[in-house]
Amino acid sequence: MKAIHLRAPAAIDQLQLCDDSDPGAPGPGEIRVRIHASSLNFHDYAVVIGAMPTADGRIPMSDGAGVVEAVGPGVEEFQVGDRVVSCFFPGWIDGGPKVKDFSTVPGDGIDGYACETVVRPAHGFTRAPAGFSHAEAATLTTAGLTAWRALVVNGGLKAGDTVLVMGSGGVSVFALQFAKLMGATVIATSSSDEKLERLKALGADHGINYRTEANWGAKAFELAGGQGVDHVVEIGGPATLPQSIAALKVGGHIALIGVLTGLSGEVPTAALMAKQGRLQGLIVGNRQQQHEMIRAIEAGAMRPVIDHSFPLEQIADAFRHQASGRHFGKIVLEF
Ligand SMILES: NC(=O)c1ccc[n+]([C@@H]2O[C@H](COP(=O)([O-])OP(=O)(O)OC[C@H]3O[C@@H](n4cnc5c(N)ncnc54)[C@H](OP(=O)(O)O)[C@@H]3O)[C@@H](O)[C@H]2O)c1
Repeated sequence: MKAIHLRAPAAIDQLQLCDDSDPGAPGPGEIRVRIHASSLNFHDYAVVIGAMPTADGRIPMSDGAGVVEAVGPGVEEFQVGDRVVSCFFPGWIDGGPKVKDFSTVPGDGIDGYACETVVRPAHGFTRAPAGFSHAEAATLTTAGLTAWRALVVNGGLKAGDTVLVMGSGGVSVFALQFAKLMGATVIATSSSDEKLERLKALGADHGINYRTEANWGAKAFELAGGQGVDHVVEIGGPATLPQSIAALKVGGHIALIGVLTGLSGEVPTAALMAKQGRLQGLIVGNRQQQHEMIRAIEAGAMRPVIDHSFPLEQIADAFRHQASGRHFGKIVLEF
């Protein structure tokens, strides 16, 4: 079977197409899945360029979607032919946070889904949304569930709330879509006026170009009826957090998700305190939350936004496209 391996030292050019041996039949509690699609996340990019160290020869990609080819003894949830999508944390089934690192995450601590066939524990997958293509399903594992958990699980998003989303990448576009699905008002930022128009076409009520509007936090505060926003989906980190705090309503919530501007920095703690804001970090989510997100997606007839699809063999081109920042929504691999 075809598989992509990341050779040391990690770099995009070190992604190697190989002919691996077949993984065989599933054992007790396992399923065999023919993977048909994966999707790119910033996390996968960080692994591939060596910013997140991994083992020599690792099969990258955290997201995988495909069809169950065989079920092992004791597996009752799935049948041959079921369409499934992988879980970011295969061992975190439900309940509060139980993970603090990426040691169990496919495509990082363990082999991922840049390959044609896997045999894995059944609890490492959920069913895919009805009617979704494999490419659409593959966007949900990381970006979809992160946005869902940020707003709905941790944020307790309600109709009428105002949500600030940043940029037009995978997590942010899902956050925009979930916010609109739940009846919220959305303020979106982007580095590009053209992308802002596309965000508005997806339902964003207001757009701010964060390149030309340095004080975009204050601008978002004003756009939210002069009261500030209820939720910020914070993907930038240290350089954007001060603006996110400026945008926040008194008593609002910032979902601390991303590291696009770095891993540490200066935070105006007094401003956050004065806003009585809640700053909550998160890493993706659990399997139960993935089930609930899929139920909501089906009920709301929501479809992921796919920017571009590449064949598995062109995985390096897919990562170069992501690095260019030209994408809008999700980049996928199909095979
Ligand atoms: N904690 C978690 O569970 C979790 C899960 C998924 C992702 N993340 C993190 O979330 C971040 C985004 O991930 P992703 O997969 O959605 O990435 P992505 O699809 O590559 O999206 C990146 C987009 O972010 C925007 N952006 C870049 N720099 C920005 C800045 N300084 N301010 C505002 N927007 C900026 C750009 O949008 P424009 O071109 O429109 O400006 C860019 O296209 C990454 O740091 C990733 O590690 C965390």
